[in-house]
Amino acid sequence: MSDQRIAFITGASRGIGRAIATRLAADGRHAVLCSRSQAPLNDLKSEIEANAGSASVQACDISDSAAFAKAIESAASEHGRLDILVNNAGITRDNLILRMTDEEWDDVISTNLKSVFVACRAAARPMMKGKFGRVVNIASTSGLVGNAGQANYAAAKSALTGFTKSIARELGAKGVTANVVAPGFINTDMTKNLPEQVVEHVKSLCSTKRLGEPEDIAAAVAYVTSDDAGFLTGQTIAVDGGMTMC
Ligand code: NAI
Repeated sequence: MSDQRIAFITGASRGIGRAIATRLAADGRHAVLCSRSQAPLNDLKSEIEANAGSASVQACDISDSAAFAKAIESAASEHGRLDILVNNAGITRDNLILRMTDEEWDDVISTNLKSVFVACRAAARPMMKGKFGRVVNIASTSGLVGNAGQANYAAAKSALTGFTKSIARELGAKGVTANVVAPGFINTDMTKNLPEQVVEHVKSLCSTKRLGEPEDIAAAVAYVTSDDAGFLTGQTIAVDGGMTMC
């Protein structure tokens, strides 16, 4: 069995997940790329390999619990190990509470919260067996301080904190850490349609006076998932340019 650490990254086709996969592969991990559609993942795999990295593809819908668990189990059995799990994929279905539909609530809770439970349950066994694991759940500053129009999203992201602390307590003695990284406003498809005045307002709230880039989040994830971060667990790290400082 190779010593190379195997990292499973969801939402790897674009945005923050793509930057995380690229960074972990550049740091010598084997990146297992997961999101709904195969084609962009194949492109990223080729790009990683062209830069002397290694990657494979597991396309699935993470809101389909059976298919998602199977994708993680397949990756672990193919490589004989699973070291790093980055639950990054997420969606928004924004609406004011008076207008929010059951479907908007359920979609966000299923994709942003239940899928994380499904993934961690599937990853726990191979991580415990290997006596090493690094789980990172990507939340949001909306889950830390709330955001009008995002009650569903903030509820799901906030719940990741309690979930992550609980599994950190359960799995810590087996060498498995679990942490949350909570991005602020990051330049991706998710934020590209925000009105200019909202972007300017957000920038003014950040000590850094800029939006984040996907690579800012990837750098934090690279550290939290490194061998060096074995004493860091159960934490929520806001990577938000100083917007919340909470
Ligand atoms: P994005 O919308 O650019 O990319 C989302 C990724 O998740 C895509 O690869 C998409 O295919 C995948 N995905 C979505 N639903 C899926 C499903 N059911 N099954 C499989 N894959 C699915 O999003 P972005 O901006 O890169 O965000 C990544 C994470 O960071 C999300 O969890 C998001 O909530 C969080 N975040 C983003 C912020 C931002 O400003 N962009 C701020 C705070 C948190």
